[in-house]
Amino acid sequence: MMRRLGQWLKQCRDYSVTPAQHYCASKSAVLHFNFKGFDVSNQEILKRQVALGVSGGIAAYKSIEVLRGLQRAGCDVRVAMTRHACEFIQPLTFRALSGAYVLVDDYAPDNPDPIAHITFSQTIDLFIIAPATANILAKMANGIADDFLTSTYLACNAPVLVAPAMNTTMWHHPATQRNIQNLKEAGVHVIEPDEGEMACGTIGPGRLSAPERIVEEALKILHEDTKEDLPRGSNKPSDLNEERLLITTGATREAIDPVRFISNRSSGRMGFALAEAARRRGADVTVIAGATNVAPPADVAVIEVTSTEEMLAAVRERIGGATTFIAAAAVADYRAKNPADSKIKKSKDKMVLELERTPDILGDVSLSRTQDQLIIGFAAETNDLLNNAREKLTRKSLDMIVANDVSRKDSGFDSENNAVTILVRDNETPIEIPLTSKLDVANRILDEAIKLRKSLARRA
Ligand code: CTP
Repeated sequence: MMRRLGQWLKQCRDYSVTPAQHYCASKSAVLHFNFKGFDVSNQEILKRQVALGVSGGIAAYKSIEVLRGLQRAGCDVRVAMTRHACEFIQPLTFRALSGAYVLVDDYAPDNPDPIAHITFSQTIDLFIIAPATANILAKMANGIADDFLTSTYLACNAPVLVAPAMNTTMWHHPATQRNIQNLKEAGVHVIEPDEGEMACGTIGPGRLSAPERIVEEALKILHEDTKEDLPRGSNKPSDLNEERLLITTGATREAIDPVRFISNRSSGRMGFALAEAARRRGADVTVIAGATNVAPPADVAVIEVTSTEEMLAAVRERIGGATTFIAAAAVADYRAKNPADSKIKKSKDKMVLELERTPDILGDVSLSRTQDQLIIGFAAETNDLLNNAREKLTRKSLDMIVANDVSRKDSGFDSENNAVTILVRDNETPIEIPLTSKLDVANRILDEAIKLRKSLARRA
């Protein structure tokens, strides 16, 4: 923090601006936001460095209010603009109000720092983009860095908050929704646009959220980030730093011969999302992964296995060190009784393959569990979802089961999103999680796990 403040002060000097000038505007401020739940005199929030990125939309003028609100809350704010934003509002306005050089172009002759996007991005505690146009969201979601604002985003380790604003049809467009989803999954905080009348006359969602809401959300992120040094984009406190999670994910494969196998369509996304969410919330995470077709999250130990037997062996080896076990793997229930050593030739018209049951990994863990281990399973069903899931919860003596309807095209197996129902031991009421990203679903599952952990502690 001190190092960052030092760099920040150095930058102020480099740009011939005194820190006091940052506040000259706020002294005459007329905005009086009511930041719900936040004491703006809070020392934790004071003097945090915030970058405000302004992209080219009609709502650009509202970012002045965001700037002033942040200043009133005690933040140092520097502004970066896209070239299109300069068509709507002059950099001079932001320069006068922030007291600092406004960055638009790394290559501008008057830019005193030749690698400003790096210096700028490494010295901030929060990067807000408000308004965020459909174009800037698309670039951010795809890693395009063709101007100062987008290069800064890529070089930034601080949490990022975007406040989209655009025409309703552009907002609803599948491309924009996909980009928003990708950004959320990358840990970017998103303030959904408000509904109302747009500059173009359309009525619907797309208006920039109220500046006071944007400031409130920014302060909330800064506040959380101060409590713990969280990884980029974390919006949760480190409420899992006591937990050691062991997670199975992906599909197991059972050989029929050296080139063929029995398996299923699981991608491993849900287990990896759980691993990522838990890691961000401070847990120590190990994943035992069967076949997957997505990359595992960073900072998580991954043990790769192929067959159910191998997965079981890997789980048994590590379960003793785990406080929570989550079985998100789609395990093949049967395997060839006598897999062939060489490729089976099609010599006959019919072929009968004798199958035998594979071991039940979750059942095995459940049988040997210790009292304070939490055991969580998944129930992949195509029919009678809740009854089947409840039966598995009881039969396998689980603490919680996450039921998902794998017959849906928009969720479940091999999909970015999921819609699930969580059933918790000793709780008759199912918890519905409507269709959302697998990372959101993962966080909801972990929220319920924490509640269970607390109730176990109370009982002990
Ligand atoms: N599971 C496991 N080992 C198995 C089969 C399943 O660990 N051999 C776990 C899964 O990871 C999941 C839960 O058990 O968490 C339920 O899996 P599911 O396939 O829905 O149910 P099964 O127990 O296999 O029962 P069925 O296929 O008859 O529905």
